[in-house]
Amino acid sequence: MNHPNYVKIVEVGPRDGLQNEKAMVPADIKVALVDRLTEAGFVNIEAASFVSPKWVPQMADGAEVMARIQRRPGTLYSVLTPNMKGFEGAVAAGADEVVIFGAASEAFSQKNINCSIAESIARFEPVAAAAKEKGIRVRGSISCSLGCPYQGEVPVAAVADVVRRMRDLGCDEIDIADTIGVGTPVRVQEVMRAAASEFALDRLSGHFHDTYGQALSNILASLDVGIQIFHASVAGLGGCPYAKGATGNVATEDVLYMLHGMGVRTGIDLDLVVRAGDFISQAIGRPNNSRVGRALLTKWASTEGAAACV
Ligand code: HMG
Ligand code: MG
Repeated sequence: MNHPNYVKIVEVGPRDGLQNEKAMVPADIKVALVDRLTEAGFVNIEAASFVSPKWVPQMADGAEVMARIQRRPGTLYSVLTPNMKGFEGAVAAGADEVVIFGAASEAFSQKNINCSIAESIARFEPVAAAAKEKGIRVRGSISCSLGCPYQGEVPVAAVADVVRRMRDLGCDEIDIADTIGVGTPVRVQEVMRAAASEFALDRLSGHFHDTYGQALSNILASLDVGIQIFHASVAGLGGCPYAKGATGNVATEDVLYMLHGMGVRTGIDLDLVVRAGDFISQAIGRPNNSRVGRALLTKWASTEGAAACV
């Protein structure tokens, strides 16, 4: 099987993970989480959203979070920006990368950002142009690339079409997102190949939610066709507020364990990510959804217990 020597992991827990929490997570906790992730060595962390607080109240404190995190040179701190208002907030907050987020399904586009796919592209145009002018990176995210909670099947051609439009806006990177985690490996490869016919393979990423337990397999399948960037969420936090029943992204700890076990470098310290996952799970009172995180925490607790007995 083909795999690269190095894979870039984009940690999306502070944004995709926490956005779905009903109870407001205090900014102190969000900042502490991002700082722990920074310390673990990520080169890209999705730290906040500059979206309408009426739509996603949990992300309303993005400016405060961005102002208080300890930035590490070499790490890009990305934020979601659906429109110019969001972009202005992102610039004021000193974001290194803005994420414009559309969908390959019309129904989801309406539910998530209240406009059609074509309208969303028109809305993203000034955002991408302004970002380019200011030297800020632009990433395009395409929801429902493997299926839609409202319309079901999403044709591969519809994904390729949005990839092309995002490319024409000047995106530096494009995310193929499986919002509801329904994709399976062969289909994922088909979608990735179609996306790569419109955009550079080494700047495409896989953003897999793990609702159906397919995410690690889908990452392996993507590696095999040359994808080198994956998104993951510490402790498997999250879900999408506009996709009922969708669970979090694949847990970062599980992805790191698999990649490191294959000899693929990430530059990230797995143990520190496990500690960060334990921290956030306890802070928000949620079970830790990383299998690797739970296994290592249990192992460490038993070794510490054994050491205490000596
Ligand atoms: P709208 O209601 O059509 O827009 O929402 P609007 O322009 O009429 O604005 C409504 C109100 O929001 C106004 O306030 C605006 O000022 C304000 P009012 O005048 O009523 O007091 N507003 C804003 N405030 C702060 N920042 C802004 C902003 N924009 C407007 N940027 C809109 C359209 C796009 C704004 C809305 O639908 C929205 O914010 N949607 C965001 C939804 C979202 O964040 N979803 C989750 C993230 S996407 C995701 O998770 C998928 C992903 O992970 C990939 C995958 O897994 O699929 C990326
Ligand atoms: Mg997502």
